[in-house]
Amino acid sequence: MSQVYSVAVVVGSLRKESYNRKVARALSELAPSSLALKIIEIGDLPLYNEDVEAEAVPKAWERFRKEIRDSDAVLFVTPEYNRSVPGCLKNAIDVGSRPYGQSAWSGKPTAVVSVSPGAIGGFGANHAVRQSLVFLDMPCMQMPEAYIGGAASLFEDSGKLNDNTRPFLQAFVDKFASWVKLNRAV
Ligand SMILES: Cc1cc2nc3c(=O)[nH]c(=O)nc-3n(C[C@H](O)[C@H](O)[C@H](O)COP(=O)(O)O)c2cc1C
Repeated sequence: MSQVYSVAVVVGSLRKESYNRKVARALSELAPSSLALKIIEIGDLPLYNEDVEAEAVPKAWERFRKEIRDSDAVLFVTPEYNRSVPGCLKNAIDVGSRPYGQSAWSGKPTAVVSVSPGAIGGFGANHAVRQSLVFLDMPCMQMPEAYIGGAASLFEDSGKLNDNTRPFLQAFVDKFASWVKLNRAV
């Protein structure tokens, strides 16, 4: 049987009707059979604090770190807040990166998708996430870039992804599957 890689999908929005969560779900449906995508929740993670790390590690931090550690790859799907990363996502990145020397992210192949109702498609957030990925030692897929604007018109009223967007997301997730395979083989 051919290898199936587990992909932790980390969504930078806690909103119930989040466009980013919808795009994450669409990517999960479009993914080839070599990838199994699963959204890892971040809304319950207490704010990172080194004092807390030294005293009693919150269960939610432990749960999150294990889920990231147990995955083969990570896909970030995020909105842009004030031209940068939403606090909930930055907190999740920080929680996963500690204790010092035991980062759950290390070496995992990754990619970043940003989704916004605006025209710039969350470019600022996308690159702010990429900045952390360098230090986290995560090989990040360069192309295709995914700055998805006009989020309000991506889905039909039925919730179905529109026909204009599907080919792009398909190409993105297919290329990501190759990227994961290449980097897991190293
Ligand atoms: C605090 C805050 C800051 C925002 N800043 C930006 C921004 O810099 N650029 C942008 O394109 N949209 C910005 N937005 C709008 C978000 O893109 C929009 O709320 C989007 O729907 C959030 O993603 P979601 O649907 O996945 O929750 C901001 C929204 C909030 C709440």
